[in-house]
Amino acid sequence: MPSMQKAKVMCIMAAQSGFDQRLSLPAMPPRTRLPAGHELLSQILFAQGFGERRVCDGLVVKGLVKVHGEVVDDPDAVFPEDRLVLDVDGLPWVTHVKALVMLHKPAGYECSLKPGAWPGVHNLLPVPLRRRGLQPVGRLDQDTTGLLLLTDDGPLLHTLTSPKKNVPKVYEVTCKHPVTQAMCDKLLKGVVLDDDPEPVAAHAAERIWPPSVDGASPDAETEAETLHLRLTLVQGKYHQVKRMVAAVGNRVEGLHRSSIGRLALPEDLAVGQWCWVEDPAVVLP
Ligand code: URA
Repeated sequence: MPSMQKAKVMCIMAAQSGFDQRLSLPAMPPRTRLPAGHELLSQILFAQGFGERRVCDGLVVKGLVKVHGEVVDDPDAVFPEDRLVLDVDGLPWVTHVKALVMLHKPAGYECSLKPGAWPGVHNLLPVPLRRRGLQPVGRLDQDTTGLLLLTDDGPLLHTLTSPKKNVPKVYEVTCKHPVTQAMCDKLLKGVVLDDDPEPVAAHAAERIWPPSVDGASPDAETEAETLHLRLTLVQGKYHQVKRMVAAVGNRVEGLHRSSIGRLALPEDLAVGQWCWVEDPAVVLP
């Protein structure tokens, strides 16, 4: 028998004997259109980073998911996908379709997604955010502390890192040698770094006298020397603060980023802690 004919005969035999897998599949109901901004609960959990769809289905079916404080055990229940108040197996969670978070970065962590010698900052985020592959908005060195933003919103990442946006970043710098006014003047005028003949200038550079231990602020007029500098940069070049400070004959001993745009690191955000940034507009100048 020619092979085409043979296949046809086998197909008919299989169908008659009830072995045709295609015939035994249940008909898929057409996916009903959901209201704009709404999704199935299981899909919401998946998009938030709670695991694969079948894992999310399982969490719901087992009664481990609360929506606004009430257990919902139907994975296909429909809810608004953004700012939904959940409790997932004991973890309180407010959904964010796009994540923008700030982290108080400690020293000893790398910003790279594939860290080498040091642990990655992603280890400081909860598992759902780690799964979402958030990207740092401009990197901080391993030994730099302070405000680090991370997002999974591609266009926002592009906007916040675009040199055209001129987003000012403020750094509190502790130097090895006293910071002179002449150093600040040079930083403001522009210094040449080793990878570019075009001078790069600080947006602002001022000597600072941090409050003393007893809380009293020393009188800047009478204080002769300080090791502290507040530097505001609008560019985001590799090791920019360290290289600019080196270019004026000093050396960075400690570096802390205190703000990006209009967003300052909150005083109550402890080292190593993170929180959501609800409105990305606060970051833009
Ligand atoms: N500039 C530096 O030199 N290091 C940082 O971590 C950030 C800015």
